[in-house]
Order: sequence, then C-alpha cells, then structure tokens
Amino acid sequence: MKISQRQWVVPAVAGWMACIALPASAADAQALLTQHRCYICHADREPVTGPAFADVAAQLRSRRDASADLAREIRGGLARGGPWHMPPHPEISQAEATVMAHYILDLAESAPTAPAPGAR
Ligand code: HEC
Repeated sequence: MKISQRQWVVPAVAGWMACIALPASAADAQALLTQHRCYICHADREPVTGPAFADVAAQLRSRRDASADLAREIRGGLARGGPWHMPPHPEISQAEATVMAHYILDLAESAPTAPAPGAR
C-alpha cells in the first residue's frame, strides 16, 4: 500500500464506512490502517514501536469480546507501562475501529509465514 494511493482510497473508504452494514474486506481495513498511520508504529507480522498485529491477535483471539476491546483501545489509546504507549485516535469512528479490529484479529488465523500482500 503506497502512501500516494491515499488520495483516492480515503474518500472511497469513507464512503463505504458510511454504511456499516457492508462487510469490509481486508483491503478496506489495510486502507484504514494506512490512512490513520497505524503502520508507522505497527506492522502486521513484526513488532515495530508497537506490537505486531498478528501477535496481538494470537493473544486475544480466544476472548469473545476481543474486537470490541480492540476497537475501544484503538480509539482511546493504551498505556500499559512500557517505554511507548498507544496514542488515542478520537477521530476514528466506531465503525472504522471495528473494521480494523476484525482485520487485526483475523491475522491470527493465517500462517505467520504467508504474509503475501493482498492475500486474504
Ligand atoms: C505512536 C505509535 C503508535 C501508533 C501511531 C499506533 N499505535 Fe497501536 N500501539 C502502540 C504501542 C506502543 C502499543 C503497546 C501499548 C502498551 O502495551 O502499553 C500499541 C498497541 C496496540 C494494540 C494492542 C492492544 C492490545 O490489547 O494488546 C493494537 C490492536 C493497536 N495498537 C492498534 C493500532 C491501530 C489500529 C492504530 C492506528 C489507528 C495504532 N495502533 C496506532 C503504538 C502505536
């Protein structure tokens, strides 16, 4: 996902998100994660400043309300005492945060060695 794609991805995603009944694809979620600069501190499968999303998913996937918790943390931030904390993102809607949370949790389902970009 190149930054230059943002110009057209952002309005498209904003349009789709207006209708939360539509199922969101992994590509939609990645567009949101790029748009909201999550990938500055995170990567899907390797720790950066923040934990790898696949590791978060592996830890949380057995919890039934994990997606709601993640969506809340994405919007509200998180500081558990490490050297870095997760900044709050109040500008992100509940619908967008939920799309991102589902995408992150789904990363636990696929093998860690199969990160082909665009693969579902
Ligand atoms: C400035 C760096 C930074 C940015 C930007 C950032 N994060 Fe984080 N994130 C972190 C750090 C650091 C942690 C670990 C915080 C802790 O454990 O105290 C974290 C934790 C998380 C977690 C794990 C929560 C858990 O319960 O284990 C998720 C999910 C997450 N971030 C998603 C996102 C999403 C989605 C975005 C974009 C909207 C984002 N982050 C943007 C730094 C960042």
